[in-house]
Amino acid sequence: MTLRLGDTAPDFTAPTTDGEIRFHEWKADSWAVLFSHPKDFTPVCTTELGYTAKLADEFAARNVRAIGLSVDAVEEHEAWKVDIEATQGVAVNFPMIGDPDRVVAELYDMIHPNADATLTVRSVFVIDPAHTIRLTLTYPASTGRNFDEVLRVIDSLQLTDGHKVATPVNWTPGDDVIILPSLSNDAAAELFPDGWDEQRPYLRVVPSPV
Ligand code: BEZ
Repeated sequence: MTLRLGDTAPDFTAPTTDGEIRFHEWKADSWAVLFSHPKDFTPVCTTELGYTAKLADEFAARNVRAIGLSVDAVEEHEAWKVDIEATQGVAVNFPMIGDPDRVVAELYDMIHPNADATLTVRSVFVIDPAHTIRLTLTYPASTGRNFDEVLRVIDSLQLTDGHKVATPVNWTPGDDVIILPSLSNDAAAELFPDGWDEQRPYLRVVPSPV
């Protein structure tokens, strides 16, 4: 199933290292980062899972819950967690879905047969509190993802959901932002009474509102 931005993230029931979950019930009104990795006991995946565990406080600060998935069984995840803790210096602190029958992998189109017929690619879905898909990423098996970038996008989404702004290239929190082109100058003057740097009529730069 092809999932696009704005679609509702499909619900599912699956076994995890934290017991069986119903996805929508589990994430409730939090944000979620649902990500797949190709296989347990592989080196790049080991570093990704460890780094994601190290981001626990960053996720919590943003009301985000992380959850991993591969087509291995929960029992294999449990055994692999020991290696992750030993090599990455942090215990995995989020559930890992066991999906040997590929039910969730197929629901989320995480197997790309022309890349690998059986294993999941490195997919990322950022899902908002209304269960709407807000970001999708697909990385090849040989390339570990940048989970700091996932956090950066969540920061942008949470900022731009609450204010009439967008974030420019390579933005990080605290940087200047851009007034939405759909906002008239009169409306912008109400929201940004200190004015803005009008580089073009469509490129109006203001300090971050938060
Ligand atoms: C890895 O996680 O290291 C990996 C997994 C599948 C293919 C290539 C690398």
